[in-house]
Amino acid sequence: MAWTGGDEQRPEIPFRQCPQLLEEQSATAVDRGPGGLRGHHEDTGVWTASRCRRSAGGGREWWHRRGCEARCRTAAKRRIVSRGDASPSRPRRSTRLAAQRPHDDGYHSRLFRCRVADVRAGHRRCRARRRTDRLEDRTSTEAGGDVATRTTAPQPAQGHREPEGAPSEPLPFVGLRAQGERLRQRIEQRLGRVLDHGAYVNGPEIEERERSLADFVGGGVTCVACSSGTDALVMALLEMGIGAGDVVFVPSFTFTATAEVVLLVGATPWYVDVDEQTMNLCPCDLERQIARARESGGGRRLRAVMAVDLFGLPADYSALDEICAREGLELIADSAQSFGAAQGGRRVGALAGLTATSFFPAKPLGGYGDGGAVFVTDAARAETLRSIREHGKGPDRYDIVRLGINGRLDSFQAAVLLVKLEVFGEETSRREALSRAYDEGLSGLPLWLPARREGAESAWAQYTLQVDDRDALRVSLQRRGVPTAVYYPLPMHLQPAYRSDSHPEGSLPVSERLCGRVVSLPMHPYQAAADTERVIEAVRSHFAD
Ligand SMILES: Cc1ncc(COP(=O)(O)O)c(C=O)c1O
Repeated sequence: MAWTGGDEQRPEIPFRQCPQLLEEQSATAVDRGPGGLRGHHEDTGVWTASRCRRSAGGGREWWHRRGCEARCRTAAKRRIVSRGDASPSRPRRSTRLAAQRPHDDGYHSRLFRCRVADVRAGHRRCRARRRTDRLEDRTSTEAGGDVATRTTAPQPAQGHREPEGAPSEPLPFVGLRAQGERLRQRIEQRLGRVLDHGAYVNGPEIEERERSLADFVGGGVTCVACSSGTDALVMALLEMGIGAGDVVFVPSFTFTATAEVVLLVGATPWYVDVDEQTMNLCPCDLERQIARARESGGGRRLRAVMAVDLFGLPADYSALDEICAREGLELIADSAQSFGAAQGGRRVGALAGLTATSFFPAKPLGGYGDGGAVFVTDAARAETLRSIREHGKGPDRYDIVRLGINGRLDSFQAAVLLVKLEVFGEETSRREALSRAYDEGLSGLPLWLPARREGAESAWAQYTLQVDDRDALRVSLQRRGVPTAVYYPLPMHLQPAYRSDSHPEGSLPVSERLCGRVVSLPMHPYQAAADTERVIEAVRSHFAD
């Protein structure tokens, strides 16, 4: 069971008992019914070991106090992710161990077994669930996360009839196949060059890509490529020296990684509500939460604000900048979803002193695997980030001068991204055109269209509506072959692994409400006009029925 109390009362878990405790926790979690962890797992179709890590929070703090930080982080970085296949036509499921090799000592190998057991238990339930699903499964690549997720639409009401003339072939949610066909030859050539030179890690593509991304962003930024958007955020926090005893303000309505990384470095995420229209961090609530955090005392240092550009729309950086300057806080942009967006004539990457982004395949600029980058406006910070990216190395590789991670990007991913960057400007314009077509086609219906902000251009990672009866809309769209996705069904402050006394249920009402109202429509630069019409018609027919 995850610890849900405040930091002050968190129980101390003795170092050597930690693995057994984790195993017990896994066993009880498996037995829990809907609404518990099991329900959460079935909703997302994803099984991660993260709750084991979270449950071990007390143990982790103990590690920190012992100064074994490197070891702690290595264990915390080990992830077991069960991935669904991103292709709708091949509902295959495989398990991937995205982990570093477990250490040989007793503690780590037992911890490792615990997680493998978790995954097996998760899979048994996945198979059972698949057999009993009454609706056709479909897979979609989650744009907001580092996982490919199986999403199942809600069950239709009894007596529901198929809409007449409903097309049987479902539309793709993300157009990776069409993009792949267009770029295949160029990508193969680029990959061939990597095979020729054989520098699979730290090859010449890394520097080339860092330069071209920095040129694309402009504003004199420096780019440090890394292995994922999550690692980009971890590197940012490490570079700022944020750790135990520090508070970082994060929006509650966001993807998991935003809050996760704060906990990974030992700091406390302090949740902030979002603006109902833009769905981005609300500057007014930020001021309120800063005051609350100060009042709550506890000897914690308020260190930074991590703004998220949700669904591609940049957060209100001018307002946030002002608050951060006044309160003495650092501003970090979690722009995992918004690479390619702009505000006030400046591109994402140059809107905050430090920006982290993701190149997960379904992102506006996505590779064929995980990837990310950190952009800094002060070039001196880039050197520290490069050191953190390689285990904190100094001038010599085995001269470790700070705590770091293995956050390197491989040369193959850099090569793919270099090709994709060539067409990225055109793709961003196509996304913008698609969003305009949706706006026009869906106007006048009883729903909220995504907000636009004066002076800001979205990267349109998602086109996300707000609707009262979201589940009914999803069922009828699915019947018409139109896939949808829900980003996100639960706010961070209510996640079992992240809960804290400072933010009980009801404390961040907008985030909580949005989780029950949001629904995203297919959005990608290769969607044909006829398919856009089909989506619009399907939504309009739902409201006409
Ligand atoms: C807001 C946000 N932050 C961080 C991440 C993490 O990026 P990655 O999946 O590349 O680790 C994601 C999504 O994937 C995200 O949507």
